[in-house]
Amino acid sequence: MLKLENVSITFNKGTVNEKKALDNVSLTVEDGDFITVIGSNGAGKSTLMNAVSGTYEIDKGKIFLDDKNITRLKEYQRARFIGRLFQDPLRGTAPNMTIEENLGLAYSRGKRRSLNIGIKRKDLNLFREKLSELGLGLEDRMKTPVGLLSGGQRQALTLLMATIVTPKLLLLDEHTAALDPKTAAKVMEITEKIVKENNITTLMITHNVSNALAYGNRTIVLSQGRLAFALEGEQRKNMTVEGLMKLYSDNAGDAFTDKMLLD
Ligand SMILES: Nc1ncnc2c1ncn2[C@@H]1O[C@H](COP(=O)(O)OP(=O)(O)O)[C@@H](O)[C@H]1O
Ligand SMILES: [Mg+2]
Repeated sequence: MLKLENVSITFNKGTVNEKKALDNVSLTVEDGDFITVIGSNGAGKSTLMNAVSGTYEIDKGKIFLDDKNITRLKEYQRARFIGRLFQDPLRGTAPNMTIEENLGLAYSRGKRRSLNIGIKRKDLNLFREKLSELGLGLEDRMKTPVGLLSGGQRQALTLLMATIVTPKLLLLDEHTAALDPKTAAKVMEITEKIVKENNITTLMITHNVSNALAYGNRTIVLSQGRLAFALEGEQRKNMTVEGLMKLYSDNAGDAFTDKMLLD
């Protein structure tokens, strides 16, 4: 379980550029929850993930994971049990290393074992099996440098790397936004499969409102650093994109804007 208690982050405090990016956010994410996060540009979605991952220190509040207070843990310490993907497929993999070397590194995360011991045959078999489950043919290209892969292949591999040791929490920050629609749909399909099969507690930011309703079991809407409202259960099941927009304009402090795709 992930729990945020009254979390606030202000950037550039005391300057003309002062910005309250997170304003007293409280949120409980139960084990196995798959929560989609939407909100207009600058609402604080990425900041929320940066607070959870420890990329940014929070000014106020507390963060708990499995009842352990992680508020003061450094990012690298949290990275042992939090997996993360970004919009940019170039982040998260080492381009000059092969697919199997990248997976080897990811697999050694949290274990006291380094690559120079070599990747065991048993591990290679596991990697091949996991790669074939992606359905992209990458299991036949394990000695290919990751830099040669397409954005979608790379994002699928990053997803596998983030989950090959099951994380306590998976954070996805618009991880399909840089891909063409067909590839984005494929990566979403892979995402859902991996999350479901491993019952991974997941937070997914998306700019695609219909995806936000189609995937996961709860949707939270951020506006101006605050949790504007959340949708779950029957209300969410029956919600349409239009209905969500109406709720947004009734509950959020700004206009429903720009980047959000409506189909
Ligand atoms: N490192 C930073 N320094 C200063 N301001 C930041 C920083 N990161 C984010 N912000 C500001 O905080 C607000 C929320 O940003 P962000 O969380 O990235 O929004 P979103 O992901 O919802 O589009 C924005 O006004 C943004 O400009
Ligand atoms: Mg963002």
